[in-house]
Amino acid sequence: MNSLKGAVLTGAGISAESGIPTFRGDGGLWRNFRAEELATPTAFKKNPALVWEWYMWRRSLIAKAKPNEGHLGLVELEEKLGDNFLLITQNVDGLHQRAGSKRLVELHGNIWRVRCLSCGAVYQDERVQSEDLPPSCRECGGLVRPDVVWFGEALPEEALKTAILWASSCDIFVSVGTSALVYPAAQLPYIAKEKGAKVVEINPEETPLSKIADIIIREPASKGVRKLLQML
Ligand code: OAD
Repeated sequence: MNSLKGAVLTGAGISAESGIPTFRGDGGLWRNFRAEELATPTAFKKNPALVWEWYMWRRSLIAKAKPNEGHLGLVELEEKLGDNFLLITQNVDGLHQRAGSKRLVELHGNIWRVRCLSCGAVYQDERVQSEDLPPSCRECGGLVRPDVVWFGEALPEEALKTAILWASSCDIFVSVGTSALVYPAAQLPYIAKEKGAKVVEINPEETPLSKIADIIIREPASKGVRKLLQML
């Protein structure tokens, strides 16, 4: 087993090759809405059915998608580093788990879970369409929302704590397929760098993180993660 301690942060870019649109950039639009206009508590309050339609659309794409070489490569990295590995994802699609990743924390929740705004029940809901939107809670009939983090909301405390701990103590921090714009996730590579870790960026495009990255792999995730595996 390798004694190198590694943390990997992933964003929507890693799932792009599985056919799931990223949030920013050309593929990010849905019926002329931007993610920032839909993924907010205010948007949900104003029009929960519209927000749910968007999530059902995303769910239907995710349900059809398969994990790609990027996801699978990170499973290999986990096998290589064992207990010295943590995957931190901003993705809510569950593709890392479907690929076989085990040591991971989800910073932005999971699209396949719902949470009731009345009774607080949290449960799996794998429907990809419904005649009746917004859905009602199976426990109390109240309004349910996707159990994901929206703009302006706090991240799950334990997941964020774990992510910060790993960023502070790893030897290598790898950022894969994220625009590095959304905080607090975007802060993690900076924490790692400050504590002396080598920072690697895998992204076909330049991001704000590129300025401080020690190694830049300008490739899509599928090729980039392969290259990383060869380097380690
Ligand atoms: P973004 O849509 O902001 O950024 C996607 C990034 O992936 C961009 O930097 C692209 O250059 C890159 N990319 C595109 N194709 C790629 C590929 N094949 N391989 C690798 N990289 C590729 O997505 P995130 O950074 O994940 O949060 O966005 C962060 C958060 O903002 C999301 O979790 C979500 C969003 O709004 C919430 O909803 C709270």
